[in-house]
Amino acid sequence: MRVLMTAAVAAAMAAGSLTVAASQEPDVETTVKDGVYTMAQAARGRERYDASCQRCHGADLTGGAGRSLTGVVFLRDWTGLTLDGLYERMQSMPPDGSENLSDDAYVDIISYVLERNGFPSGDAELSSGLLGHVRVEGEDGPGVVPNFALVRVVGCLAGDGHAGWQLSSASPEVRAADPAPSAGDALAEAQAIPLGDRAFKLLYVFPSPEAYLGHKVETKGLLIRDESGAADAVDSINVTSVQGLAEVCE
Ligand code: HEC
Repeated sequence: MRVLMTAAVAAAMAAGSLTVAASQEPDVETTVKDGVYTMAQAARGRERYDASCQRCHGADLTGGAGRSLTGVVFLRDWTGLTLDGLYERMQSMPPDGSENLSDDAYVDIISYVLERNGFPSGDAELSSGLLGHVRVEGEDGPGVVPNFALVRVVGCLAGDGHAGWQLSSASPEVRAADPAPSAGDALAEAQAIPLGDRAFKLLYVFPSPEAYLGHKVETKGLLIRDESGAADAVDSINVTSVQGLAEVCE
């Protein structure tokens, strides 16, 4: 997990941050099932894909030297996230930096990936401004956050009595696109999240979050579900960041 996480962090940093013109109100109801690209666009995307991505991700997108961009892997990695996350990730591709594709080329490739995943086409082309408003969702709907997904929770930082750390009175986990502490609008959003009744064990917390003991904190990291089925099962988070939100926790 540590290795994977490091690769994800590096990729996120290499991709930089995406600024989508907020030309329209966020519409969180739009999903990839709503026909958000055109067939012509997917056909262009296919040409781009075959030229630049296929050698690693395979003719059928199922992986090979790269990672699968279809089926359960695609849904596990992206369900609950908006398409701008996928777009940012693609901007670090090819990983060897052998080519620079235009922004439109990546949007076309996303259209092709959606087509190959069985999501319907529509009458209007997908544009980069829309990416942040279209959520990935499989047949089962938004579902539960998949195991090993990057998540964000808000809760009270406490010791676990054994030199480890945990969150109590925590909010339910939601998916996060970025492993770093939230900033700007995302930070304001985190501050507004109410406490809940969840608890999480925190794994690999460096540096020590001791200064936030008893504080309300935002924690991000990879979700590791306790699948033991035990009555006292507690999910864990393999932590990428902890930041203090308030010096009290209420
Ligand atoms: C030289 C090989 C190579 C090429 C070429 C390449 N990729 Fe990748 N790609 C990878 C590898 C390896 C990973 C997996 C890294 C990992 O799992 O952490 C990856 C991961 C990805 C991911 C993340 C998938 C996920 O679910 O996390 C996306 C999206 C992606 N590539 C898209 C593309 C696109 C689009 C292109 C063409 C523009 C492309 N790649 C070209 C090797 C490649």
